Amino acid sequence: MILLAIETSCDETAAAVVDGGGRVLSSVVASQAAAHARFGGVVPELAARMHVERIAEVVTEALQPLDRGWDALTAVAVTRGPGLAGCLLVGTGYAQAAAAARGLPVVGVSHMVGHVWAARLARPDLEPPFLALVVSGGHTDLVHVRSGQDALLLGATRDDAVGEAFDKVARLLGLPYPGGPAIDRAARGGDPRFRLPRPVLPDFAFSFSGLKTAVRYLVEEIVAADPLALANPRMVADLAASFQTAAVDTLCLQLEAAIEHTGVSRAVVVGGVASNRQLRAEVARRCGPLADIVIPPAEYCTDNAAMIGVAGLRAIAEGGFDPEPLVVDPGLIDYS
Ligand code: KG4
Ligand code: ZN
Repeated sequence: MILLAIETSCDETAAAVVDGGGRVLSSVVASQAAAHARFGGVVPELAARMHVERIAEVVTEALQPLDRGWDALTAVAVTRGPGLAGCLLVGTGYAQAAAAARGLPVVGVSHMVGHVWAARLARPDLEPPFLALVVSGGHTDLVHVRSGQDALLLGATRDDAVGEAFDKVARLLGLPYPGGPAIDRAARGGDPRFRLPRPVLPDFAFSFSGLKTAVRYLVEEIVAADPLALANPRMVADLAASFQTAAVDTLCLQLEAAIEHTGVSRAVVVGGVASNRQLRAEVARRCGPLADIVIPPAEYCTDNAAMIGVAGLRAIAEGGFDPEPLVVDPGLIDYS
């Protein structure tokens, strides 16, 4: 099996080739972050248009390592949701057209299932049962993957996702978009001296909107006392470190509780925020003694197509290919 995987659910145009053993032969990601930065967030119409402009060259680059190019492929996997409708339509339209032209079967993959199974890129023999903490721009979910077909959503955010909170707090601090990596950088060497809430709710739920609002009040107070406070990189570093420490502590507290509650022996941390250095270190330090912790390399935490490839292999093994045409579902909720 040589599988071409395509991912266009948000603002990365990505393609990858994986073999039947889940080895990544190529993974190409064309980020649109620079184009959206001046708007402070992803502009859906612009994102879809940029996917149209780039998809062919990104796929061509992903096929580079294959001597026979398109002729070497046996199937195509593509993200069918959740995500921005116009963006998903570009990926699924391209995948299905290319597959039809070459007589290849297609499998539609949930972006969230892709994030979870990206853990296999770090641990190829990963099998259920395990816990997944999925932390991205749109989701903060704790999932108990009990078997190949059975994934129970233990808890989710009641408002903002943690990645969204990173992006919004970065804006409050005058840091560039995307905010997650900017806070990660700014927090380095900062002193987490400001006390912020840890929004730990019952039932493994999260609420990051309150934490973001607490940062807003804190910043307003600091700027009222000194209008130039945010021009001081030291102050920005301390604020970034304080927010990041509170967010990471919250995630660790819920993950620790979920590991104890389920009694699993393995937990994976995935999604864009899982590339955060402090989160990776703290989860390993605090949860490592409780369970075997798997966190994929940072490049497979943020959106990419290799994760769609490994999740596609799993989907094919479990249920075969999808009948055409593929149904795009921007609100897809599916972890199984
Ligand atoms: O998984 P992802 O690439 O896209 C979605 O499916 O949403 O996650 C993107 C999110 C953004 O909110 C971004 O700011 C955040 O992940 N992010 C980070 C880091 N890198 C990306 N958050 C904290 N630290 C990082 N290093
Ligand atoms: Zn994602």
